Amino acid sequence: MSISSPLDSNDVAPSPSRSRRSWDPVVKVTHWSIVTTILANALITEEGSGAHIWVGYALAAILALRLLWGLIGPAEARLSAFPPSPRRALAHLRDIRTGRKEVHRSHNPLGALMVYAIWSMLGVIIASGIVMAGPPSTAFLNPAEQSGAVTGQAVAGHGDHDDDERDEGAEGEDSVWEEVHETAVNLLYILIALHIAGVVFETRRSGREILLAMLPGRA
Ligand code: HEM
Ligand code: HEM
Repeated sequence: MSISSPLDSNDVAPSPSRSRRSWDPVVKVTHWSIVTTILANALITEEGSGAHIWVGYALAAILALRLLWGLIGPAEARLSAFPPSPRRALAHLRDIRTGRKEVHRSHNPLGALMVYAIWSMLGVIIASGIVMAGPPSTAFLNPAEQSGAVTGQAVAGHGDHDDDERDEGAEGEDSVWEEVHETAVNLLYILIALHIAGVVFETRRSGREILLAMLPGRA
């Protein structure tokens, strides 16, 4: 039996009747929609294509909805229910070492760090993607030539020689964002692997149906 301290104010003592049985529908739908958009852009759409950018903006909208839900949604879904806290994460690691099992009403402290890491990485991917693609109003018109189009606007009114220099500058800038985008995507893959390993580990350790709580059909 765990003892609640002020540090653990977001947690509840392990009692089956109070343990979480399911996430609310918005958390579930946004989770699996985010998974779907990432899979789509990683495996199906062509990098930088119109479809890739559409899916990217959908991902941005879904993430924004989840963050808004983190402010106005039910208690477990609120950001305040799982603050990013290295101190609480260390305490959780100690619990794992000593075999102490505490039921957290939201993400456990280690899981919370992972959630914020994934969201931050998605933020970098979305921001770098939008810089390369341009604003939504123009991004879908001719995606393949977006970098060129942006460069063209940037050099309007200058001579040919200047154009070349600006073109090179803008291309260099674009390739920096490409690097940022690609690196963040690769880091995201690592986080996802750790996240799934964490879910499996915590399910075994706690004996609770952590995955079922994220699946449809449970009230
Ligand atoms: C998590 C979802 C995403 C994944 C897995 C993903 C993956 C990738 C990858 C692997 C590339 C190739 C990078 C390179 O080597 O040049 C790429 C390029 C690109 N992505 Fe994404 N992306 C995602 C989200 C987005 C978003 C949100 C946007 C914008 C709204 C976006 C816009 C672009 C653009 C414009 C390019 C073309 C870069 C170029 O000119 O080569 N992506 N993406
Ligand atoms: C693209 C892959 C994935 C990403 C980016 C991802 C991301 C996330 C995020 C951000 C959360 C926090 C949910 C929220 O509060 O809104 C979460 C929770 C969760 N995810 Fe994933 N996820 C992915 C794949 C998976 C897979 C394949 C599974 C199944 C094994 C899974 C199972 C879960 C579970 C069970 C939770 C709740 C954990 C808890 O009770 O604290 N996720 N995931």
